[in-house]
Amino acid sequence: MSNLDTILELYNLSLADSKSQDGYDTKIHKITSQKGNNYTLKIYPFSEDNWTDLEAENQILLALKSKLNYDLPFPIENRENQLLTKLDGKIIRLLHYVEGTFWGDQKTNELFLTSLGTEMANIDIQLSQINPGAIKYRNLQWDLNHLLENVDLLKYVLDPVDKKFILYFFDQFETFTLPKLKKLPRQLIHNDFNPWNVLTDESKISGLIDFGDMVYSARINELAVCLSYVLSESEDITKDLRTVLHSYHTIYPLLTEELDLLYHLIAGRIITSLVNSAEGKVKNPDNEYIQISEKPYRQLLHTWISTNPLAIKHAAYEACGFSVPDNSDKKKEITNLREKHFTTALSLSYNSPIHMSNAAFQYMHDTDGNTYLDAYNNIPLVGHNHPRISKAVSTQIRTLNTNTRYHYEQLTQYASRLLKHFPDKLSKVYFVNSGSAASDLAIRLAKTHTNRKNIFVLEDGYHGNTQIGIDISPYKHNKKGGKGKPDHIHHFPLPKIFNNPLHADQIILAATLQIDELLQQQKHPAAFIAEPISGCGGQVPLPPNYLASLFPKIRAAGGCCIVDEVQTGFGRLGNWFWGFEMQGVIPDIVILGKPMGNGHPLAAVVCTEEIAYSFNNGMEFFSSFGGNPVSCIIGNEVLKIVEEENLQKHAKEVGAYWKVELTKLQKDYPILADIRGEGLFLGVEIMEDGKPATKLASDIKNKMKEQFILVSTDGKYDNVLKMKPPLCFGKGDVDRFCERLGMVLGLLATN
Ligand SMILES: Cc1ncc(COP(=O)(O)O)c(C=O)c1O
Repeated sequence: MSNLDTILELYNLSLADSKSQDGYDTKIHKITSQKGNNYTLKIYPFSEDNWTDLEAENQILLALKSKLNYDLPFPIENRENQLLTKLDGKIIRLLHYVEGTFWGDQKTNELFLTSLGTEMANIDIQLSQINPGAIKYRNLQWDLNHLLENVDLLKYVLDPVDKKFILYFFDQFETFTLPKLKKLPRQLIHNDFNPWNVLTDESKISGLIDFGDMVYSARINELAVCLSYVLSESEDITKDLRTVLHSYHTIYPLLTEELDLLYHLIAGRIITSLVNSAEGKVKNPDNEYIQISEKPYRQLLHTWISTNPLAIKHAAYEACGFSVPDNSDKKKEITNLREKHFTTALSLSYNSPIHMSNAAFQYMHDTDGNTYLDAYNNIPLVGHNHPRISKAVSTQIRTLNTNTRYHYEQLTQYASRLLKHFPDKLSKVYFVNSGSAASDLAIRLAKTHTNRKNIFVLEDGYHGNTQIGIDISPYKHNKKGGKGKPDHIHHFPLPKIFNNPLHADQIILAATLQIDELLQQQKHPAAFIAEPISGCGGQVPLPPNYLASLFPKIRAAGGCCIVDEVQTGFGRLGNWFWGFEMQGVIPDIVILGKPMGNGHPLAAVVCTEEIAYSFNNGMEFFSSFGGNPVSCIIGNEVLKIVEEENLQKHAKEVGAYWKVELTKLQKDYPILADIRGEGLFLGVEIMEDGKPATKLASDIKNKMKEQFILVSTDGKYDNVLKMKPPLCFGKGDVDRFCERLGMVLGLLATN
C-alpha cells in the first residue's frame, strides 16, 4: 500500500503528522497537514459494493450540509474532483475532521442527553427527506431489522450466563419483535449514535462522525442503538431513557407502536455488540476497538434481563406524553372470572395476589411493570423461559407429537439419558404428566408387587392430588377439609431434629420400633414412602441414616421403599443429584415431577426390574401424554442444560453462601430460629417466644413480596420460609434477598 505521503498528494496536501486507528475492516488516520489543518483519511478494502455504498454515503453527507447545527465529516474531493479514489486495491476517502471531545470521554448529564435526543431527531428528519440511493439495499448485520444474521456468532460467546441471556433475547426478538418491526416506519438512519461517534462540548452535541453504518431501516432503531449506549453507562436507566426519548419526540414525534418494541430493540443492539465483540476477540485478539464497549454492555445485559419490558414501555410512553395503558379493568375482569369459574380451593399466593405477565430465568414480571426476584418456584429448574427449552418445544411440536404406542427416538433417547442418573438397579421408567400421577402409579406398583395395601408415610408429607395421593398425604387428609387417614395408611412422625426433645438416633430408633409394632399387628407394608427433605413439612431434612436404618427393615418385611424426589431431585440439593443419595440409600421406586420439564407437565416413576415385571401382569399401562415426543425433548434438554450450565455445582455454592448470609442475619433477628436444607432447597423456621410464629412468617412473606421478592411459607404451623428458586439464582440474588429480608425484619420489629 502506498504510504500516507503519496496518498495525500492526491489531495495536494503534505503530511505533518498522523495518528491511526483500527475500525472493523477500515483503516482510519487522523491527518495533520503542513498548513496545520486536520483531516480524517479512511482506507477501505476495494469492492464494487463498498464503492457504491461510499458514493451514496458521500451524497447523503453533502445533502446534510448546512442542515444541522453541528459538524459532520463532509467528504473532500481529490485533485481530480473525485470524492473516492481507487488505489492499490483500496478505496481512499478524505473527510473533513470533526473537532471536539468524544461523548465517551466525559460524564453525561441531563443537558447532554437532551441535546442527544434533539439532534438525533434533527438529523433523522433530514435523513427522512434524503434519497438513500444504494444505502436502501444495504444488508448490515448491525441493522436491527437484520438482527438474526448475528445468531451464528453466539458460538463465540464463552460465558455461559451471557450466552443463555443472549439466546433468550434472540429468541424473544424472533418470536415477538421482528414481525412487528417489519411494519414500522422506515427511513434512512445514522444507526450508530455511540460515545465514540458523537462529539460534544459538555452540554450539547458539537459533531457526529462515522456514517458507515447508515441503513434504511425502522426509524426506532436509531433510538434503540443510541439508548443502548446511554443506558450502558447510566446510573438511572429510566430517567435517562425518558430524557432522550422526550427530547427526540418533541422534535420528531414517535408512534406508540415504535415505543412498544424499544425494550427488545435495545436488547437487540446489546446482543449484536456482544456477539460481534466475542467473535472479534477470537479472530482479532489485538484489536481493542472491537472490545471497547463489551464491559458496560455485559452489565446492561444482566440489568436488562431483570428489567420488566413493561417498565420500559411505560417510561417511554410517559416520556412522549402518551397515557400508559390502564390495566385495572383487565385485572378486575381476571379476578371476577376467576371467582366465577373457580372456588377459593384454587388458592392464590399473598394477601394481594400478583398479576403475572412474563418471566425470564430467576425474574418474574407483573402486568404493572414490576420485576420480582423468584426465590420460590422450583419448577422452572433451569430458569423461566429458558430459550433452549422454548426452541426444543417449538421445533418438536411442529414435527411429531404422539404417544408411546409408536416407536420414536425421543422416548428412548430421553429414557436412556434419565436412567444414566440412577444406580443400575433402577432401570425401568414410566412417564406420566404430574407428580400426583407418578405417586399414584408408584403406590400401584408397590401394591401390585407386594400384593398388599398398607402404606407407611411421614407426617406432614404431601405426594399428590389423586385419591391415592390424598390417602398417602397427611398434609392433606389431616388438615382442613381432610377426612383423616384411611385404615391402611400408617403415619410415622416427621423426623425433625429442630426443637425436638429426642436426638436423631432416638428419632430413628423410635421409627424402627414403630415398624416392629406394625409388623406385630400384621400390618405388613406394601411400601414406605418419604421425601429426603420434607417440602410441605417445612423443608425438614431427614436425619442422617434415617432411610438407611429404615429401608432394610421395610425390605425384610417384604415392602417397597419409595422416595419422592418431586421437589428435591435434578441437582437442586447441590451435593447430590437425588436426595436419596444424601441418605446413602437406593430406593426401589423413585417419584419424579415438577422440575423435570421446567414447567412442562412431565413426571415419571423409576423402579427396579422386579417391580416393573410384577406390574407387567397383562394390564396395559398407558398414559395419553406421558412420554410424548415433545415432553421427552424437553426433559432431555433440561438434563443437558443442568449438566452444561453446571447447575448442580452452582446450587451447592449459592446454597452454602445463602446459609452463611442467613446465619449473619440470625444474629440480629433470633426469630430466624432454624436455617436448614441443602443447596437451593432451604428453609428458615420462624419462632417467637419458643413457639412457631405463623402470623409473623406470613407477614414476612407478604412484606418480602412488597419488596419484590417471591418466597413462601409451609410446614405444620405454616411458619417456615421456603426458598427453592430456579437453579440459576446467583450470589447477587442471595445478597438482594438477604438485604430485603433484613429490611423487612427490621420493619416488622419496629411495628
Ligand atoms: C413431594 C411432592 N410429591 C408430589 C407432588 C405432586 O405433584 P403435582 O403437583 O405435579 O401433581 C408434589 C406437589 O407439590 C410434591 O411436593
